[in-house]
Amino acid sequence: KQLGISNETPGSRSPSKTRSKSRGRSNQLTIDDFNVGETLGEGSYSIVLDARLIRTSQRFAIKVLDKGYLIRKQKMATAMVEKNALMRLGAGHPGIVKLYYAFQDEWSLYFVLDIATNGEMQSLISRMGSLSVTCSQYYSAQLIDALQYMHGKGVIHRDIKPENLLLDQDMRIKVTDFGTAKILDHAMEAEKFVGTAQYVAPELVEANETSESSDLWALGCIVYQMISGRFAFSGLSEYLTLQKVKHMDYSFPEGFDEDAKDLVQKLLVRDPSQRLGAGEPGTPNDMQALRSHRFFKDTNWEELWTMHAPPVE
Ligand code: ADE
Repeated sequence: KQLGISNETPGSRSPSKTRSKSRGRSNQLTIDDFNVGETLGEGSYSIVLDARLIRTSQRFAIKVLDKGYLIRKQKMATAMVEKNALMRLGAGHPGIVKLYYAFQDEWSLYFVLDIATNGEMQSLISRMGSLSVTCSQYYSAQLIDALQYMHGKGVIHRDIKPENLLLDQDMRIKVTDFGTAKILDHAMEAEKFVGTAQYVAPELVEANETSESSDLWALGCIVYQMISGRFAFSGLSEYLTLQKVKHMDYSFPEGFDEDAKDLVQKLLVRDPSQRLGAGEPGTPNDMQALRSHRFFKDTNWEELWTMHAPPVE
């Protein structure tokens, strides 16, 4: 494993793929160790490339972040959060993009990730218009399983949306893009606040403003969108959309599956602690309560990551 980002002498960037000089650390990869193919995605300060590690022929997605841009836009912390969150999540879950290597050269940071060859959930929903109840149940169950794992590791994603749910070659989801994640420190994980319970002010208890259940709200929005093909909350501007969220101004279209409707209504709850699944493990409203909702009555949670994906419809 080589997850440390360390300073190195710059590698060669020439298109001729001249091998850069050895830097005396034989196991440190550089971009020249990869055959780079097409661009899979582009963000404002990063691109994702299809790449093969020459030594093993293993295929990866390499996220390349431009250091100059990160520094100019003061986004270096975002990149570090992304790397730290991925490192904390380790190799631990099939529904989360794995970070294999991280390295850098003079110009760029490189994150070598699982490749997800079937694109974004967003594209799938757009292409299909909406998803069947069976598909929606399958993908949302995988998302729940991945969320439970990352929350257990003290990582709150905070930007769960269909664009950040990639689909691998077996049409299983892989959660990506941890740049906006919140990594809880161990003290917070253990007690949820730093201080002494008998004396802590309510705003400090509540200032846990981003809690795990922000991701549960997003889950509710995604279930709504998969079933109906529309956003739960959408206005003509970001401001108007946020107004709708604030007033919980949404409604279900005719024919919306009744079990899905009940689930969404139990997730899109204003009080974060009252959302289905938001309770501490072992309490009546824990993730097990969410898994037991009747929308998931046909879900085989044990086979979630080994069964064949239902046909897309
Ligand atoms: N786009 C962004 N990240 C990706 C990944 N890991 N695999 C495929 N496409 C991507």
